[in-house]
Amino acid sequence: MSDERPIGVFDSGVGGLTVVAALKRRLPRESVLYLGDTARLPYGTKSPLTVERYSRRNVDFLASRGVKAVVVACNTASALGLAGLEEPVPVLGVIEPGARRAAEISRGCVGVLATESTIASDAYGIALRAARSDLRVVSQPCPLFVPLIEEGWYDDTVTAEVARRYLQPLIEQRVDTVILGCTHYPLLADLLAGLLGSEVQLVDSAGAVAERLHQDLESSGALASDSAVEDHYCVTDAGSRFRRIAADFLGDPDLSLELVEVG
Ligand code: DGL
Repeated sequence: MSDERPIGVFDSGVGGLTVVAALKRRLPRESVLYLGDTARLPYGTKSPLTVERYSRRNVDFLASRGVKAVVVACNTASALGLAGLEEPVPVLGVIEPGARRAAEISRGCVGVLATESTIASDAYGIALRAARSDLRVVSQPCPLFVPLIEEGWYDDTVTAEVARRYLQPLIEQRVDTVILGCTHYPLLADLLAGLLGSEVQLVDSAGAVAERLHQDLESSGALASDSAVEDHYCVTDAGSRFRRIAADFLGDPDLSLELVEVG
């Protein structure tokens, strides 16, 4: 059995392309239909009700385009937006797979870096404690990271100074594992690893959700076979910034890009 329909992926903007990159590594035969809700970005400072409303529309849009499953790449939408969803297709968020992976490898204290709204929801804390009740969790909102990363300042003294400040409480609490709980943060993995030291393990939720999706598709006989891979990218606001940043995130400046209305 196989299923050639694409995997739907949505994010508030361009950041979810880190999840696409992880999906491409783990599931290279799958086609992706991506929706970046660039008109409503950022989600990370918005209220749960608003994020839930946006998420529902995004899932409906992708389902209407015939995807076989939806990956909610956006950590904020995964944390806040999935609760009330009626699911026309299977929907998978990044929080639970990322938390489970961290709980598997941690020696007892996990740091979580994410947007303000994700941290305020405590979604990672709840998922971590559900996986392992003995874990200590140290949460740190990092609102400056997304704009710095979108400027392309990955390897920059300003970003390093900001990161030093954000990481201070985690270092003081001696975390042994840190979850990169936002689509953009994998692009700072080298910088953060250097500041945290080699004893601390980083967990990228993108890799964890790709692994989970592989398991789900395999067990339901819904993996794609050898047919041609066709990826398509939709945005809700004009795409020049998206295209520029996408080249950094995915290494592919020639994305097939479509401007769409959602909702
Ligand atoms: N995609 C968001 C997340 O992973 C970050 C950008 C935003 O705030 O919308 O939480």
